[in-house]
Amino acid sequence: MFILRSRDLTDEMLEDLFDIADGLRRVGLPKSLSGKIMATVFMEPSTRTRLSFESAMIRLGGSVISSPEPNGSSVAKGESINDTIMTVAQYADVVVVRTSEPVSQWGVLADCPAHIINAGDGSNEHPTQALLDAYTIQRHQGHKTGLNIGIMGDFSKSRTINSFVQLMSRNEKNKFYLLDATGRKPGCCLTSTSYVECDDKTFAESLPLLNVLYTGRIQQERHEQPQWQGFCLEQKHLDLLPPDAIVMNPGPRQKELPASLDDDPKVVFFEQVKNGLFVRMALLKYLFSSQS
Ligand code: NCD
Repeated sequence: MFILRSRDLTDEMLEDLFDIADGLRRVGLPKSLSGKIMATVFMEPSTRTRLSFESAMIRLGGSVISSPEPNGSSVAKGESINDTIMTVAQYADVVVVRTSEPVSQWGVLADCPAHIINAGDGSNEHPTQALLDAYTIQRHQGHKTGLNIGIMGDFSKSRTINSFVQLMSRNEKNKFYLLDATGRKPGCCLTSTSYVECDDKTFAESLPLLNVLYTGRIQQERHEQPQWQGFCLEQKHLDLLPPDAIVMNPGPRQKELPASLDDDPKVVFFEQVKNGLFVRMALLKYLFSSQS
């Protein structure tokens, strides 16, 4: 199975995966992937995604092999992404890949013998981050429909926002309040009409309506010029949110969500990190159980 874009995670899969993740949380860690090997091939920096995948595989009884740096692999000798993935797939049962290039440039994977998971492809997509974000929302908001979701971040360059928006806008009743923190228009991938493009003032005015406030850093490394950071969260903004609203950030965070706000129970930054482990365990279990 290839999980390359958020649309590869169907609604039925989401339901199964969230149930599996809830079960893992309750009953602990069956070593059901003993004998399976996961390879991680990361050509861009990572802390959470890579280590949560590796921890998930080890906790499920599987093993991990890893190509640590692009400079330490044949990519440094000019090997194509497709050759790298196809090669690693001969050694592992599942390959988790992060690249600077979009998956559309990964080439044909049809004959690939391993499961492939996109762990972030440039500014394009990060489907398993969207999965853990949706799981975190479900744990707080249940199956509520018609959520008001504020998103503040770097719309033109953030793969996490792109995948998050795609997944959450499947529910046509959800409404989005968008603020591009670089001052651009959040020209975004929403096809639904239920979104409002905000400036700093109208975004602050939307806070009392929100169930979810999703924040993200400016992706400085993906811009040619240094970007100005607009809206940064302060306690006075958190106080305007409804009591059961949550404040999210995929990490790494910067000025947009200062650590000084972590004591506020609305901030679920580290809970997302932990949920990343459970949903990635669930995804690995799912991939191998749907194979047999
Ligand atoms: C993000 C990423 O690498 O896309 N982090 C993550 O995987 N949790 C977000 C970012 O770099 O801003």
